[in-house]
Amino acid sequence: MDRNLTLEMIRVTEAAALAAAGWMGRGDALSATRAATNSMHQTLNCIPFAGKIAIGEGEPGAVEHLYSGELVGGGGPDQYHLVLDPLECTRSVAFGRSNAMSVVAMAPEDCFYVPPTQYLEKLAVGPEAAGVIDLELSTEENLRRIAASKNYSISDLTVVILDRERHSRLIEDVRGIGARIHLIPDGDVAAAIAAATPGTGVDVLMGTGGAAAGVLAAAALRCIGGEILSRLAPFDKEEAEHAGQLGVQDMRKVFRARDLVRSDNVMFAATGVTDGDLLNGVVYRPDGATTHSLVVSSKSRTRRFIVTEHFFEDSPLY
Ligand code: FBP
Repeated sequence: MDRNLTLEMIRVTEAAALAAAGWMGRGDALSATRAATNSMHQTLNCIPFAGKIAIGEGEPGAVEHLYSGELVGGGGPDQYHLVLDPLECTRSVAFGRSNAMSVVAMAPEDCFYVPPTQYLEKLAVGPEAAGVIDLELSTEENLRRIAASKNYSISDLTVVILDRERHSRLIEDVRGIGARIHLIPDGDVAAAIAAATPGTGVDVLMGTGGAAAGVLAAAALRCIGGEILSRLAPFDKEEAEHAGQLGVQDMRKVFRARDLVRSDNVMFAATGVTDGDLLNGVVYRPDGATTHSLVVSSKSRTRRFIVTEHFFEDSPLY
């Protein structure tokens, strides 16, 4: 993947984050999403490449911009598929909470798996533990293996879990084993990447979260190392039947990051909207705003954290 194109994607996530950040704490999730979506759409179409959205904001007809299947980009010989979320953690922006980001992942055509369920069960770790985790094993055995791979005792491990009723058993299990828990209101993309990023204090993400978020996290982990194991988690009987109709034979099949993103040529970019485990949110100044982004690429194996100062008067938002 062209290096310039990879860096250009930061402009796309920055634009969406800047547009969404103005809505922080105003209780209006819809306007925050609309602002991020319109801004990302506009900026993507200024980037010289030919893109197609593999997983976007919704199905064609259900949303105006950034729908799955939409062609984007300003044109050019490079053809890529994208998975994106202009505002991951909509509620976090609306209610002034943590972990909201604007996110884009890009890979060659047809390399992204499009899950037929809304949710995936996930287990994500950094490179040290990538080879030892197994979704077929108990929570206790996985945590023992992760701790051993990092040379930690279990009580040193920090497990991030989405704060949801469906996780009450998992939370009980982790407490019983003696690991530390960081419960988050939203944002398991940031948490999965944080588990594979030194210095974040996060060792593992466990639990069930959004399927598109799982594919985004897999793209990032394909670039920086680490692993995310996942399994389809149908919401109800109808969704399971629908998955069966789409050809899923084994609902218990475990996907690795390389099954969700089937390419060694991947990039991932994210810009923080609100402060989180991985990135700082947008900070306003009298003359503009500062953004904090991450861009990673499987080809260069680089992890760039980029702080950008935007000056609104000289250069209005993109
Ligand atoms: P949104 O972008 O849809 O707001 O997702 C936020 C999020 O917390 C994800 O990080 C997570 O995967 C998912 O929601 C969990 O879904 P739910 O809120 O339905 O439990």
